Amino acid sequence: MAQEKNDKIRAIMSRKEEHIKICLDKPVQSKDKRTLFNNVQLINDSLPELDYDEIDISADFLGHKFSAPIMAGAMTGGAESAKKINENIAVACEELGLGMAVGSQRAALYDKVLEETYSITRKSAPNIFIGANIGGAPISKGFPIGDARRLIEMLDANALYVHLNPAQEIVQPEGEPSYKNVMSGIKEMVKGTGKPVIAKEVGFGISGNAAKKLESIGVSAIEVAGMGGTSYTAVEWYRAKEMKMRSKEMLGNLLWDWGIPTAASLYSVKHSVMIPIVSSGGIRTGLDIAKSIAMGASMSAVALPLLRPATVSSDAVKEAFENLIYELKAAMFITGCKNIEELKHSRYVITGELKDWISGMSDRSKI
Ligand SMILES: Cc1cc2nc3c(=O)[nH]c(=O)nc-3n(C[C@H](O)[C@H](O)[C@H](O)COP(=O)(O)O)c2cc1C
Repeated sequence: MAQEKNDKIRAIMSRKEEHIKICLDKPVQSKDKRTLFNNVQLINDSLPELDYDEIDISADFLGHKFSAPIMAGAMTGGAESAKKINENIAVACEELGLGMAVGSQRAALYDKVLEETYSITRKSAPNIFIGANIGGAPISKGFPIGDARRLIEMLDANALYVHLNPAQEIVQPEGEPSYKNVMSGIKEMVKGTGKPVIAKEVGFGISGNAAKKLESIGVSAIEVAGMGGTSYTAVEWYRAKEMKMRSKEMLGNLLWDWGIPTAASLYSVKHSVMIPIVSSGGIRTGLDIAKSIAMGASMSAVALPLLRPATVSSDAVKEAFENLIYELKAAMFITGCKNIEELKHSRYVITGELKDWISGMSDRSKI
């Protein structure tokens, strides 16, 4: 029994290390498809009637104040290299007044020693918004509410993220493609944890239809994590190839660009639910963030672009965030928006493929 547990821990730890290594060393982003934010045009304002220095980008999300509508997306924990990564992200977020989520915490339930690869975030960042994280697959199997509370307490977390990743599970060599009862499982989390539950994808996008179901069971916010940035079917393709699992390898290749482009997912979710939305999946510039807010997001989350800086130092992570902040403020200056509230009402034009996605939806909320 102890041997079985040890094997399980070792397998999770090495998987986490492989994910980090692959994301650092290999091309893991969508190949031929994009977020479609290139099809969203904000309108230039030649008469902005404001000075750059007076632009206020502070934002609110689930009752928390952020200095900017930007978070570090869920990435890691449960592996040796993950502790430093989480620490550097947390320190940068604390200094800048931003927020973060940790990666799936399942590993910490098997081995207490791994807890500190996650809890380092709260130790390094006593004041920021931090999200705990667990997957849809374990939740489908009847995840004990006591365990969910433990994950939250480990970080003194402000919310629990539930990541929904069927496309990853089906390609992952040791994946668990079983999602039956996922809704009732998430409902249990909503009822029993005493914290807001945020449902997120991992890079394949949440549809308006799925968002409506999630809202109906009491989920507090949706992070769309759409297609166009990191592709987890790509990450698992590398692993399947290495393990010589031919059918998984072929599936990973087939589904490399699977998913709802982030801008289409955001549009559909915004037209389907009232709860706050986090725009993520391929968010790479402050202009993407400005477009997201104009389209109805409350926040944006960025994952892969922070990974390499997080292996270097908290200052390197800070620099990455500061670039995004500079670009966001610039976008607000040239659209004449003094604050986030004004940006939310900023006009925009939708063109090209995104327009096709929207007009192709049988009902705006039903993709
Ligand atoms: C190295 C790495 C590990 C990740 N691990 C998790 C995870 O454990 N839980 C989760 O919810 N999302 C995880 N994600 C997905 C991200 O949160 C995000 O949804 C996805 O990468 C798309 O955003 P991006 O294009 O900015 O990277 C991970 C992403 C990366 C790059």
